[in-house]
Amino acid sequence: ETKPRVPVIWLHGLECTCCTESFIRSAHPLAKDAILSLISLDYDDTIMAAAGHQAEAILDDIIKNYKGNYIVAVEGNPPLNEDGMFCFPGGEPFVEKLRRVSADAKALIAWGSCASWGCVQAAKPNPTRATPVHQVITDKPVIKVPGCPPIPEVMAAVITYMVTFDRIPELDRQGRPKMFYGQRIHDKCYRRPHFDAGQFVESWDDEGARKGYCLYKVGCKGPTTYNACSTVRWNGGVSFPIQSGHGCIGCSEEGFWDKGSFYDRV
Ligand code: SF4
Ligand code: SF4
Ligand code: F3S
Repeated sequence: ETKPRVPVIWLHGLECTCCTESFIRSAHPLAKDAILSLISLDYDDTIMAAAGHQAEAILDDIIKNYKGNYIVAVEGNPPLNEDGMFCFPGGEPFVEKLRRVSADAKALIAWGSCASWGCVQAAKPNPTRATPVHQVITDKPVIKVPGCPPIPEVMAAVITYMVTFDRIPELDRQGRPKMFYGQRIHDKCYRRPHFDAGQFVESWDDEGARKGYCLYKVGCKGPTTYNACSTVRWNGGVSFPIQSGHGCIGCSEEGFWDKGSFYDRV
């Protein structure tokens, strides 16, 4: 209770804002508790009350007063073509803003598949040269929390872990927290007994679909996707895509847009 809250600067590059939409729905911990009691979300140009010059002054103050002690959470990514002109918040190319703000940060969090891998805006032919955060900021730890969007409770847990223990969580070789990305969807999927028994949905709305059989033959990417959807689930633990009858499209995996995740086997 006496510990000062860690300042967090939340930046937005090329993205759709649904990582924020996801985060504000965290139930455990509640997003409001994370924001009001654990961290000090001092700058977030999408949801902060301040705007314009007032908002940018706050950003400058945090960088100056908390040198080396603030966390930069990045949603979206910087486009590098045309000197970064495709994303230009507050009169500055986003890539320059990202470099400037990250220079004195303690660590960065790359929210979602946009910041972690590039996502849809980096899909071939990637006209803006949208580039993942870790390829631009190479001298700081970058914790990737991929997913399109990531699970709200996973986002809140990662940031809570970092401020509570004052260290970054254990990461896998790709820079993702092992506690949430250590297993494939397939490893803990409740339809797995059907996979093992060779019981598959062969086409939408067939008898197998009605019986809840495995979705592998209609394109499920659970066997190659590392995420916590089959354990943590979504909407406060209520369900996840496979439970709703649709295969996983591998939204937390690098380059999933270009890997034929969408309906290629239907
Ligand atoms: Fe939106 Fe997906 Fe990018 Fe998050 S990762 S900002 S949900 S497109
Ligand atoms: Fe694996 Fe997908 Fe089948 Fe689940 S539905 S058992 S994740 S292939
Ligand atoms: Fe994404 Fe697959 Fe989970 S599509 S939301 S990683 S089940």
